[in-house]
Amino acid sequence: MNKTDLLDSVTMAKFVSNGYLRFDEIIPKDLCEESKEAIALGEMDAYDKVGAPFYSLWEHSAMGKIFRLTTVRAIIESLLGPNPQYDHHYIHNKKAHTNDTDSLHQDGTYDTRDFGFDLLICFFPDDVSEKMGGTLVVPGSHFRKVNSGAIGRYQNIVGQQQLVCKAGTILFMHSNLWHSGRSNHSDNDRLLFKLRLNPTVEQVRLWNTEDINDSEILTILGERMPWHSGEQRLENINRIRLWRYMIGDPTPDFTTDKLWGTKLDDMPKVIYQDSVRSLDMKDSVVSE
Ligand SMILES: [Fe+2]
Repeated sequence: MNKTDLLDSVTMAKFVSNGYLRFDEIIPKDLCEESKEAIALGEMDAYDKVGAPFYSLWEHSAMGKIFRLTTVRAIIESLLGPNPQYDHHYIHNKKAHTNDTDSLHQDGTYDTRDFGFDLLICFFPDDVSEKMGGTLVVPGSHFRKVNSGAIGRYQNIVGQQQLVCKAGTILFMHSNLWHSGRSNHSDNDRLLFKLRLNPTVEQVRLWNTEDINDSEILTILGERMPWHSGEQRLENINRIRLWRYMIGDPTPDFTTDKLWGTKLDDMPKVIYQDSVRSLDMKDSVVSE
């Protein structure tokens, strides 16, 4: 993969801040059509392939062609590295006139990682109108771990984004982003191909880092989300923690996190070390 094909740091910061990236119409229409035929024929059966190297799958099917396009592969490599692992996929076919309730959820209840993440990839081979009730995401929700469907009662959250798009659009989502499939009030079925991939390497500087010191990154990592309300500071700190991990630089003086990064360095262990030092001093006083 050429370095220039990979995502840049500003785009990666948007992923860290929002928890997803959206690329409209990056799949050519003829491949969209081919992929629908492949879905109908069941060409992507891979349920016994959990844990397999992803690029060992679907080599000769339309879906394989899609995920081997340089643009798509470069996005995946920037987020997960060059050799991602297949986790699972699912074909969501939301029938026309389907009424859904209680569907906002988070997939990663069982994910105990502090920093690393999987990728949920949502590919839409057809146009999706508002009436068709496309996938809904809550930007900036990926740091809030919840018990899967415990958030299902929330039908609308300020700042939520419901997808309306043309065929060939893909969402690349952090695996803990809150999302839901909405009711389809249209006369047409809505098709979504969902794929989950795992990283096989540390997710550190996998993208094109030439713009790593771009001042826009600070603005993006501090972007306010209306629904964060008074907890915006906590969200900013969570973003800085993930960003520090992804740039492989835990130092507090990185140019983008001067504003909030100091909170991360105010750790209990510092207090503990101080108390140990004071105990030592006390002991030494006693012994004298
Ligand atoms: Fe889900």
